[in-house]
Amino acid sequence: MNNPNLVLGLPQIDEEHQQIAAMFAALSTTDIDVLTGQVAALETAIAAHFAGEHTLMASRDFPGLHCHKAQHAGLEYELHRAHGMLKKRQLDKVIRHLTVIMPQLMIAHITTMDRMTVAFLNGELGTADFAQLRLPEENAPAGARVE
Ligand SMILES: [Fe+2]
Ligand SMILES: [Fe+2]
Repeated sequence: MNNPNLVLGLPQIDEEHQQIAAMFAALSTTDIDVLTGQVAALETAIAAHFAGEHTLMASRDFPGLHCHKAQHAGLEYELHRAHGMLKKRQLDKVIRHLTVIMPQLMIAHITTMDRMTVAFLNGELGTADFAQLRLPEENAPAGARVE
């Protein structure tokens, strides 16, 4: 996950992304018990990072807050899936999930949603820049409308 493209321009977020990338890079590929502890630590770090982003976005009325939160929930779900693989001691499967699939999902999130969010927080994008990115409310199913 170490990649210069992950530097978005907000030190707190950039540092946390680097820490999370380092944790992914340090995952054991041979010891399932060590890996189980590392996954728990990764979940804690990611949950704290996501909570920090939520607080920052809410404090600045980021227009994509709900979409960003939904992506975080999806990433947490994917990471949580590792527990089932660990319990079944499916080492090859969990290694692939944690060293290939999860880093790709994290990089995709960081280079798109996080990048847009940081650009907004740094004043490079404004609320109007997000207006066209959302589905028109009139086309949304009744239960999906933001009231
Ligand atoms: Fe992030
Ligand atoms: Fe994020």
